Amino acid sequence: MDRQPMIDQWYPVALASQLPAGGRATQLMGTPITVLPGEPIRVVTADGRDLRITVRYGHVWTSLGDPAKELFDIPEADQPGRRLVEVGVVRVRCSPLRAVENFLDIAHFPFVHTDILGAEPHTEVGKYDVEIREQEDEVWATKVQFYQPQAAKSATGGITTDYMYRVPAPTSTVLYKTCPARPGEWDVITLFVQPLTEELCDVWPWMALFDDETALTDLIHFQQMIFLQDRSILENQIPRLLPLDPGREIPTRADLTSVAYRRWLKRHQFTYGAQLVAQ
Ligand SMILES: [Fe+2]
Repeated sequence: MDRQPMIDQWYPVALASQLPAGGRATQLMGTPITVLPGEPIRVVTADGRDLRITVRYGHVWTSLGDPAKELFDIPEADQPGRRLVEVGVVRVRCSPLRAVENFLDIAHFPFVHTDILGAEPHTEVGKYDVEIREQEDEVWATKVQFYQPQAAKSATGGITTDYMYRVPAPTSTVLYKTCPARPGEWDVITLFVQPLTEELCDVWPWMALFDDETALTDLIHFQQMIFLQDRSILENQIPRLLPLDPGREIPTRADLTSVAYRRWLKRHQFTYGAQLVAQ
């Protein structure tokens, strides 16, 4: 069997600032690993192999293979004045690819995040643009607009929120959304997913926000609450693995980002957590 290309990608495996003295025992794509604190931080396998690591966006990233590229860049992470928020970890019994796909889906907001990120009757997803940017090799959705009763912890009423979505790696996604506190800038909310197995993942949300008002614990609790709402949906999806034939599910306008994501996964054979369905 050919080597699964997702082996050679970077994955988050711990918060760098919260490593227990004895290390964090976890797994990556079915392989047990331990993240060890120290200078430098190390990630080792059970048979004593030292894996490549990089520390970025508050997290320790590693790979079972040999990534051809550095970890993707999020330039906003270095922009002065932003608060960098480490939300922590949420374990979800779902395919890591499903976790990303759900994050890309706007249509569920009024039904899953009722009266927070969406509300009836404002359920329509307007026209937006989706592309696979060939040079960066990333999926992007732009010009996404949605009415939100409370778009962020710092929002004080309903607003139409502008969004952009970006998928720079098979299990990492970056959301850019209207920044209530700083017009013209984008708040950055990411979902970094650690594939434990094809049907189990640890999800590490992380944010880079312009918000000097809200207490850190409130920012974290807001994001955790949103994600726990998603978890109950994710854990009940059938089939558990992400079906990867784009022709199988009839795309609606709201699904365009998902269609592009699946097409991009298939192109790269990023199929760990996917179910290949014959036409
Ligand atoms: Fe959601």
